[in-house]
Amino acid sequence: MIVNREDEYGYAFREFFLPLPRKGSIMNDEYAHGHADGVEAGRTAISILGSTGSIGRQTLEVVSFLSDRFRVIGLSGRSNLRVLASQVEKYRPRVVGIESPDQTDDFIRLLKEKGLNPDEYPELVYGNEGMTAIATLPEVEQVMVAVVGIAALVPVLSALEAGKRVALANKECLVTAGHLVMEASKRSGGRIVPVDSELSAIFQCWRAGSGRQVKRVILTASGGPFFDLDKEALKNVTPAEALRHPTWRMGKRITVDSATLMNKGFEVMETRWLFGLSVDRIDVLIHPESVIHSIVEFEDGSQVAQLGTPDMRLPIQYALTYPDRYKSLVDPLDLALVGRLTFKPVDLERFPCLRIAYDASKGISTLPAVINGADEVLVDEFLSGRIGFTDIPRIISMVAAEHKPKEEPSLEEILRADTWARERALRAVTG
Ligand SMILES: NC(=O)c1ccc[n+]([C@@H]2O[C@H](COP(=O)([O-])OP(=O)(O)OC[C@H]3O[C@@H](n4cnc5c(N)ncnc54)[C@H](OP(=O)(O)O)[C@@H]3O)[C@@H](O)[C@H]2O)c1
Repeated sequence: MIVNREDEYGYAFREFFLPLPRKGSIMNDEYAHGHADGVEAGRTAISILGSTGSIGRQTLEVVSFLSDRFRVIGLSGRSNLRVLASQVEKYRPRVVGIESPDQTDDFIRLLKEKGLNPDEYPELVYGNEGMTAIATLPEVEQVMVAVVGIAALVPVLSALEAGKRVALANKECLVTAGHLVMEASKRSGGRIVPVDSELSAIFQCWRAGSGRQVKRVILTASGGPFFDLDKEALKNVTPAEALRHPTWRMGKRITVDSATLMNKGFEVMETRWLFGLSVDRIDVLIHPESVIHSIVEFEDGSQVAQLGTPDMRLPIQYALTYPDRYKSLVDPLDLALVGRLTFKPVDLERFPCLRIAYDASKGISTLPAVINGADEVLVDEFLSGRIGFTDIPRIISMVAAEHKPKEEPSLEEILRADTWARERALRAVTG
């Protein structure tokens, strides 16, 4: 295979993302322990968008465990006000985002129930603008983006433009607008550190050689709960079965996306942007034990893998403390207990979502936004029992085929394509 040494679109991951620690770099020790004016010495100031979700709550567990290194400035949630109020009681953020001003009275009531006095209430901000404000507060150094969906896009772009370090769990930002996100990062110096376990693994393995000597990356996939089912059986799987992921505990959308392998397709897209690789250098390998989180293959044929207990608190912590490593909440892997690691090739016939994602990853267009928007709606429809499991790729393909992609789209064009795809997918279900 001929290795193209040029980045597909010129966003060099290599030296750009992984400089050796140097004075004045955000990657140096000083940064990891807090340095900005007005920041409490020794504790990095952090905002967490989507703190009430699966990644958000695990991030707070890590922050509690490393409470001598982090302090929480901003939190945001959407519908789960009760969890958010408990987080306010425990972490005392200065600013909190909720979805709308209509929720204010309910939220204040919950804070009162927690025994907080009015002078202890955080400043409340609302909706997407509120998340953007939380992500760009002057004293905030790091932003964990644990919101699901395209709603994270404007806050992420703003955080990067403001020069913040962004721990990015959200997939949809890179999937739908990778070129804009990478441009914002390059322009402003705001750095992205991946949280997703596969991307974190690549990020770690990359350092085993020079980035220029990377030949390809191999994303591992558990295969989800249905990997051994044939096409006919896949038609009849239920939402409850799809939500029973064999190795990871995650939010509902990503769990269903793991079962269809759309999640792996999204990771192909994310990898392409974050690491500046063309998609023909990104392979997928089924690895049901989810112990090897991904592999980087170098020019000499060496493959470097990252292994660990399948527990998101590990990549979350690494994203927050990179380039340093500290004791964590996660038990180290015991390979003797695991016993056997197995691998299988991926079957694009039975899991067409991955093929759809590969096909959409070739240029820079609105197609990934359309696929993502349609997928989000269809996952909801599947979970509500209105469509079957195999209808998800079928309707996504139909919506994608009807779409007239815009090349090098602007933010507005991406958001328009997203809205169009959602409406079109919904119409395909409701008739
Ligand atoms: N879970 C994992 O293990 C994992 C692993 C890798 C990557 N990721 C990615 O990380 C992101 C979060 O995943 P998750 O599993 O943590 O999801 P989740 O459990 O569903 O949590 C999503 C969070 O986003 C908030 N939210 C949802 N829609 C919103 C909107 N329109 N505006 C503002 N906030 C909104 C939710 O608030 P409320 O709960 O208050 O409504 C919640 O705090 C996703 O992009 C996912 O693909 C997750």
